[in-house]
Amino acid sequence: MRVLGIESSCDETAVAIVDDGRRRLADLVLSQLTEHRPFGGVVPEIAARSHLGQLDRLIARALAQAGMKPHELDAIAATAGPGLIGGVLVGVTMGKAMALALDRPFLAINHLEGHALSARLDPGVAFPYLLLLVSGGHCQLLRVEGVGRYRRLGTTVDDAAGEAFDKGAKILGLGYPGGPAIEQAAARAKAAGIDPDAYGLPRPMLGRPGCDFSFSGLKTALRQRAQERAADGALPERERDGLALALQESIAAVLADRTAHALEAAAAATPRLTALVVAGGVAANQRIRQALEQVARAHDLPLVAPPSRLCTDNAAMIAWAGIERLEAGLTDSAHGDGLDFAARPRWPLDPTAPRAAGAGVKA
Ligand code: KG4
Ligand code: ZN
Repeated sequence: MRVLGIESSCDETAVAIVDDGRRRLADLVLSQLTEHRPFGGVVPEIAARSHLGQLDRLIARALAQAGMKPHELDAIAATAGPGLIGGVLVGVTMGKAMALALDRPFLAINHLEGHALSARLDPGVAFPYLLLLVSGGHCQLLRVEGVGRYRRLGTTVDDAAGEAFDKGAKILGLGYPGGPAIEQAAARAKAAGIDPDAYGLPRPMLGRPGCDFSFSGLKTALRQRAQERAADGALPERERDGLALALQESIAAVLADRTAHALEAAAAATPRLTALVVAGGVAANQRIRQALEQVARAHDLPLVAPPSRLCTDNAAMIAWAGIERLEAGLTDSAHGDGLDFAARPRWPLDPTAPRAAGAGVKA
């Protein structure tokens, strides 16, 4: 079985062809980073137009790379939410048109399900596992029990973890995207022997019951500290790097604490978890991985991260989620697939999960 996947819910236009033997026959990602960078964040209208301009050519390239003709595809899967609605519509409309023309099933995939199942594509983790999904748009803890069976244990009440890095970097004048810039600045501060605790940044939610996250207070505190430490209106480099280190330490501590709570909550449930999986762009951060390694080890579980290409937004995970749904027989309209499926800007993976306290809940 060979499925074409389309991803267009944020600022990556991506197309992949994956088979049921876990082979990625094509796996293309076009980042729109340079188009959004001047604005310091993703501009939805620019994103949608850019997807529209690139998608057809990218599909042609993916087919050529896989050495396939369109009619050799068994199904078309596209991200149908959650995400920026303009971009989602571009991908869904293209996917439906192809499915109709080729007379193949159209699979409307929840982007979060793509992330949730990516560790089964590579390295091939068995159910059930705990997933910490940390990216620019998502910050969730999910117990992944089976295809279509996800229990959300925690989510952010305000910003996502990647957003905290991005907004923090903006405050410190470190550019966009913020995560890699903060990590580099933090490494400089560490090498210079700066003590991150000296900045007194808060660690929101640390030690509180439950598994929810909050990062907006951290951002406000960072702004205040940056103002206090500025000299003649400018933040000295040493202070900037020290604040980057303090921010990274706070985020790592909060992620580790919330994940530990989720593992404790899951410990009593059967069957036993097979792994702690971390996915999303923030999973690239070495300090965060180190903190999560410790938490996993304390619970006698391996920490598994899909390869970075599968961790950040991509279409292979969408095609793979399509394959898993087809194999599990979850493709009828009762499950929301098919040509009549309407794109959903918000689409929780676990519809039974309560709204997080005080939340304008993401996804
Ligand atoms: O998964 P992703 O590529 O896209 C989505 O947001 O869905 O994640 C991008 C996010 C950005 O917020 C970026 O700052 C963050 O991941 N990120 C990092 C690092 N690399 C990327 N955060 C911390 N440390 C990093 N090394
Ligand atoms: Zn994503």
